[in-house]
Amino acid sequence: MKLLDVEIAENKMIANGIYLLSFESDYLAKTFKPGNFVNILVEKDSIYPLLRRPFSISFVKENKVFIGYKVVGIGTQILSRKKKGDTINILGPLGNSFLIERFDGKVAVVGGGVGIFPLLSLCHELKKAGNEVDVFLGFRSKSDLFFVDEFEKVSDNLFISTDDGSIGFKGNTVEFFKTKIAEGNYKVAFSCGPKPMLSAIKSLNLPFKCYVSLEEKMACGIGACLCCSIKGKEDNMLHVCSDGPVFDIMEVEI
Ligand code: FES
Repeated sequence: MKLLDVEIAENKMIANGIYLLSFESDYLAKTFKPGNFVNILVEKDSIYPLLRRPFSISFVKENKVFIGYKVVGIGTQILSRKKKGDTINILGPLGNSFLIERFDGKVAVVGGGVGIFPLLSLCHELKKAGNEVDVFLGFRSKSDLFFVDEFEKVSDNLFISTDDGSIGFKGNTVEFFKTKIAEGNYKVAFSCGPKPMLSAIKSLNLPFKCYVSLEEKMACGIGACLCCSIKGKEDNMLHVCSDGPVFDIMEVEI
């Protein structure tokens, strides 16, 4: 983990309120593993906003790092106004990473909304390891779609769901995933998305392992402030930033 000043290469809107930021960093591109995140100080020379904001790394290409994000508050609003050549300060890579190996069966990857961001590099690495990967992505509507072409390239089957049915399956992506479990011969699942979605996956009591990347409000990003604490299955306290963000779904309360 390092503190780095990086110069923005590009920061563009790719869907409704969704941006893709990129910058060059040999260090991050070499050390990053799917699931890792970075903590960004969006206003480097100001004390406001004071706290860093956590962002998962979506993917890297050579020495370029790409971070997808949604504008949800003041920190991401400020970030969305940054231009090519502006400098931001990054702490990372942080957190643990997804388990990647050649699994003895198919792999299911289930993402919803902004939870889709960390799953692209995961799929890339799962394919590289020789896996057959089914991807299930959920969006609100057709106009909210992003990364679809990129996921096409790193999956064997890509299933899109939208809440309004404007494209793909109409309804919740977990409902659609559920219809595929019996025929899927899945050995493992990976997921990231809003808590109700993860909770719905947990309640499926999947007959195989499922790993989830959790999102929590964070401050320090290194296990020092308790800001991101959650309960483990033994009522134990876990830090999403330093024990996670990736957990076995059965080991955490969701
Ligand atoms: Fe401070 Fe996790 S963000 S302990």
